[in-house]
Amino acid sequence: MTELAVVAWPVAPIKTERLVLRESEARDRAAFIELFASSDVHTYLGGPQPRDELERSVPETPGRRPGHFVIELDGAMIGTVEVSRRDAERRGNVRPDAGEAELSYLFLPEAWGRGYAAEACAAALSWFADALPGVPVVLYTQTANARSMRLAAKLGFTEVQRFEKWDAEQWMGEWSPVTPPA
Ligand SMILES: CC(C)(COP(=O)(O)OP(=O)(O)OC[C@H]1O[C@@H](n2cnc3c(N)ncnc32)[C@H](O)[C@@H]1OP(=O)(O)O)[C@@H](O)C(=O)NCCC(=O)NCCS
Repeated sequence: MTELAVVAWPVAPIKTERLVLRESEARDRAAFIELFASSDVHTYLGGPQPRDELERSVPETPGRRPGHFVIELDGAMIGTVEVSRRDAERRGNVRPDAGEAELSYLFLPEAWGRGYAAEACAAALSWFADALPGVPVVLYTQTANARSMRLAAKLGFTEVQRFEKWDAEQWMGEWSPVTPPA
């Protein structure tokens, strides 16, 4: 995906009630490899990558790019949230005019079911709405990915369309920050 070159980056760590959103550091490498190698994390994302390949290919400090947050709980990485420029071609021009940015999230399975993803995504969306006011955010997920579908709804994404790709039904939703009444 293309970088969000127009935002000031890196940002100071963002603190929520339980989490910290921050830029990636070298100490996160092992957790990145866990994320990419997890078959549970990649059930709806085309399958995991082999661990030995990841050990060779993952850079010393993975995922350092604008809009890409490591999510930390009690000092340890539990996942990532990214708001990135949307690559319309990668999505097969499903709806090239739909928005400028895309939200994606990956959490280690032991961190599921505690509301951490919702807390982190809400903070990332709020950061993005302040950084680039008025720019809509889109989200893609398989409809079979029930956890992800529930999260999208909780965050306020509304359905734009469903379509078939990679032999599965895909869901595209859109989010716009609520503009306070004048
Ligand atoms: C998609 C994904 C991030 C969702 O994680 P999640 O933990 O289910 O999401 P949330 O943070 O919204 O947590 C919701 C759950 O936490 C529970 N919860 C527990 N304590 C909570 C609290 N204090 N606050 C809020 N929710 C809480 C909720 O009841 C809910 O449980 P339920 O799933 O049984 O209904 C996670 O499954 C994942 O990383 N999947 C793999 C990657 C992926 O598929 N990404 C999608 C493509 S972008």
